[in-house]
Amino acid sequence: LVSFFQKKVLAGKKVLITAGPTFEAIDPVRGITNHSSGKMGFAIARAAVEAGAQVHLIAGPCDLETPLAATGKITRTDVVSAKEMHAATIQASDSDIFFAVAAVADWSVAKPAKEKIKRQSQKAPDLAFVANPDILLDMAKSVKTKAGKPYPYCVGFAAESTNLEAHAKEKLQRKGIPMIVGNIGPETFGSDLNQLLIIDAQGSKKLAKAEKLQLARQLIELIAKKI
Ligand code: CTP
Ligand code: CA
Repeated sequence: LVSFFQKKVLAGKKVLITAGPTFEAIDPVRGITNHSSGKMGFAIARAAVEAGAQVHLIAGPCDLETPLAATGKITRTDVVSAKEMHAATIQASDSDIFFAVAAVADWSVAKPAKEKIKRQSQKAPDLAFVANPDILLDMAKSVKTKAGKPYPYCVGFAAESTNLEAHAKEKLQRKGIPMIVGNIGPETFGSDLNQLLIIDAQGSKKLAKAEKLQLARQLIELIAKKI
């Protein structure tokens, strides 16, 4: 249930979120994916609905229920590959805030086989890869202005194994976004707990270890003040 005590800090705002992993086909039965559970992105979707926003959640393959579906305040688009996620996101880009929470595959298989590759057909397939589009970068490039304010406000996520702050700052600049949220992996992958480092022009701020939903609510409050 949406809490009566939740402040409607995003009333009238449109929030777009990518969440979960992507899956890149090798052939009709195999593919390449990653460990993203989708939980952080879905928690942000829930927190945004609680805050009064109209939410569009674009989800890669993950086994999670759409949060607060009964409110009618959330639309979900399920996608499989990074290319599909890119197309769905660009189509929905007219939003006030964009959260790029998905763990998007950086590469896809150049020529996925139309039929299952048989074990005996060759020694081992030589897979060639091509780079996937950068959804966050393309969203950041397409930022527009309304009443002197840029939109959507683009928030990136960085899951790093080492040097979180340095890597996250580099991504903030490379992607030209106003905020990046870092979390140290891999121990939080799939967990209900997380620990975040929020980096923007004002500096960096730690959100102590807590349930992903609690952190999502804090993040929403923080961003609502900035837009
Ligand atoms: N991202 C995206 N599209 C991609 C790759 C990443 O939208 N093709 C977004 C992610 O959703 C995340 C941010 O970019 O918000 C950072 O993703 P990350 O994988 O950490 O950064 P990369 O630029 O891909 O760099 P690397 O994987 O080399 O660390
Ligand atoms: Ca990446």
